[in-house]
Amino acid sequence: TLMDTDAANRSSTQTMLTSTAPSFSALSPALGARVDNVHLDALDDATIKTIQAGLLEHGVLLFRNQSLSDPQLIVFGRQMGELDYSTLAAVDGLKPREHQEVLIISNVKDGGQPIGVLGDAEVVWHSDNSYRETPLSYSLLYAVELPPSGGETCFSSMYLALQTMPHELKAQLDGLEIKHDMTYNSAGVLRRGLEHVTDPVAAPGPWHPVVRTHPETGHDALYLGRRPNAYARGLPVEQSEVLIDALWKHATDERFTWCHEWQLGDVLIWDNRCVMHRRNGFDPAARRVMHRLQWAGDRPTRDA
Ligand code: OGA
Ligand code: MN
Repeated sequence: TLMDTDAANRSSTQTMLTSTAPSFSALSPALGARVDNVHLDALDDATIKTIQAGLLEHGVLLFRNQSLSDPQLIVFGRQMGELDYSTLAAVDGLKPREHQEVLIISNVKDGGQPIGVLGDAEVVWHSDNSYRETPLSYSLLYAVELPPSGGETCFSSMYLALQTMPHELKAQLDGLEIKHDMTYNSAGVLRRGLEHVTDPVAAPGPWHPVVRTHPETGHDALYLGRRPNAYARGLPVEQSEVLIDALWKHATDERFTWCHEWQLGDVLIWDNRCVMHRRNGFDPAARRVMHRLQWAGDRPTRDA
């Protein structure tokens, strides 16, 4: 009977471990992992630490079958780090929400007024809020309503982009800074209070190192942010355009990317310090509603 009790204890321990420990499965050779056995509500510290470590390792994490109210999402958000929503209050024409930490990404209109941002068109490759001096660390999207097709979100590993860069291209990046234009958002919409600009030299925005050292992993990543009006400091515009085009062509190569086809209840979190993302357009007559969180980050720097 002693044996039986031991066996019973072992098997209940195993059941406990398999039902509570997050497990990670890679989603592509480049980046991304699906995390099973986690509901993002009321997590203990150990599970949060495991998720944070997994995010640093994989760049993007997918959690399926979630059902999260705004308050639950916000609790999880605060457990993960410092939420950043100060800039969201000013988003054009959106009605203030009860929970201002949660931004709505949507094409849906209510009484003619958009309930969220980014519409239904393609969202071009970018890293969130690179047009600020201190861009975001992580962003999260939670799928609440989805179109029957389209609206996939794709990711690209900027670690891999840097590691595989042809030598003659990499050699041009030493000490280089790029200006990240703040005039347009990733859907190409003019930001409030700014004027149209086509000259990269005149465009407003912060300078960031084109290679940044990730503050937590210590690895270097290519940091391009966004293409429109990007400008390589100190170069004649034509030369800057040629260099930046070459960098973008390399950075968005299929080898480094992975696209996610959304299901209701999916949560994706990504690390803007080493990953870029884009979104496919979708049928304007369909509805897509995503709830979004974003976390404060550091000023991009490069270690010597
Ligand atoms: C974002 C974003 C893409 C999408 O929320 O930062 O780029 O799939 N969204 O809606
Ligand atoms: Mn984005």
